[in-house]
Amino acid sequence: MDNKLTIDKAFEVMKNAYAPYSLCHVGAAIMMKDGNIISGCNVENASYGLCNCAERTALFSSISNGYKKEDIDHMVLVSDFKGDTRPCGACRQVMSELLPFNCPIYMLNLDGSFTKLTIQELLPYSFSSKDLK
Ligand code: THU
Repeated sequence: MDNKLTIDKAFEVMKNAYAPYSLCHVGAAIMMKDGNIISGCNVENASYGLCNCAERTALFSSISNGYKKEDIDHMVLVSDFKGDTRPCGACRQVMSELLPFNCPIYMLNLDGSFTKLTIQELLPYSFSSKDLK
């Protein structure tokens, strides 16, 4: 599916970031196969450990809205970080469980250029439910 609408949504939701501490703004948008887009931004807290990244906000919202990983077409990330928007380790772990293994992840720069990778490439040799007894 085309990623233009998803890119627009990721830029739009990035503006909602609640980031008074880091001053870093992140937006994540997930295109569903039915054409709906579920999005999220980072939400910080004075108790720093409670900050939630945009990727997890969006993914948890997609689950809350009744979507399954099979419903996802692609994901777009954007931020005002230097360079590409690289998901943190915690988000990669969550993405590895909630995204299809071959789902395209577009990691944008502010100028709209991007790197496209899958979660398998971002988190190889990962821990999963298969490792549980
Ligand atoms: N952040 C994200 O939203 N996604 C990431 O993958 C990396 C970090 C947020 C968390 C925090 O609010 C700010 O960016 C700086 O780390």
